Amino acid sequence: MSVTETKTSCPDPLDLSGLGEPPGLGGRPGSHRRELVLRVMPMPSDANGNGDIFGGWIMAQVDIAGAVLPARIARGRITTVAVNQFVFKQAVSVGDLLSFYATVTRVGTTSVTVHVEVYAERNPADPHVVKVTEANVTYVAIDRDGRPRPLPPVTPAPVTPAPAATAG
Ligand SMILES: CC(C)(COP(=O)(O)OP(=O)(O)OC[C@H]1O[C@@H](n2cnc3c(N)ncnc32)[C@H](O)[C@@H]1OP(=O)(O)O)[C@@H](O)C(=O)NCCC(=O)NCCS
Repeated sequence: MSVTETKTSCPDPLDLSGLGEPPGLGGRPGSHRRELVLRVMPMPSDANGNGDIFGGWIMAQVDIAGAVLPARIARGRITTVAVNQFVFKQAVSVGDLLSFYATVTRVGTTSVTVHVEVYAERNPADPHVVKVTEANVTYVAIDRDGRPRPLPPVTPAPVTPAPAATAG
């Protein structure tokens, strides 16, 4: 079992969530913004006999995190068609707080590819952040029969009127 964290008690130099777009707009073609899409802390049940976290568990989390922006773009069912260039740079340990950042790198006719980067925040007494893995994942929008369907057209971002000037 895993615990999903929403807060961290120490400053996170990688917290780019302020750059994220509102739901429904994030990851639109051309934006190429990196968004925080998942935070999770692995539990002892996710570890192997050495005490390190299973690569397969991390891959599953990357698949879940990577789907966030494509699901917004597809506005419906999606499925994973390919995971490319999975690189494990550092071992992940129980107690690491993992942050998953995603960037849309390609929007095709039916598919969306994202680059997912995973950072571990460790050692709460003297916190530091290390990149542990990254991967490119492609998702395909599918219809109810599981066949590829064209992505919906991009909805332009709403124009927010400038606030009225106040006297005084
Ligand atoms: C995903 C699936 C619906 C695609 O069906 P398909 O008939 O192979 O579709 P296509 O060949 O027309 O490709 C559809 C899109 O996927 C892309 N794609 C296909 N294979 C790819 C690959 N290896 N890497 C990257 N993109 C790929 C194509 O480029 C195309 O994108 P575009 O329309 O944006 O150009 C089908 O392969 C499937 O159901 N796979 C199982 C998915 C699944 O169960 N995933 C969970 C893990 S088991």
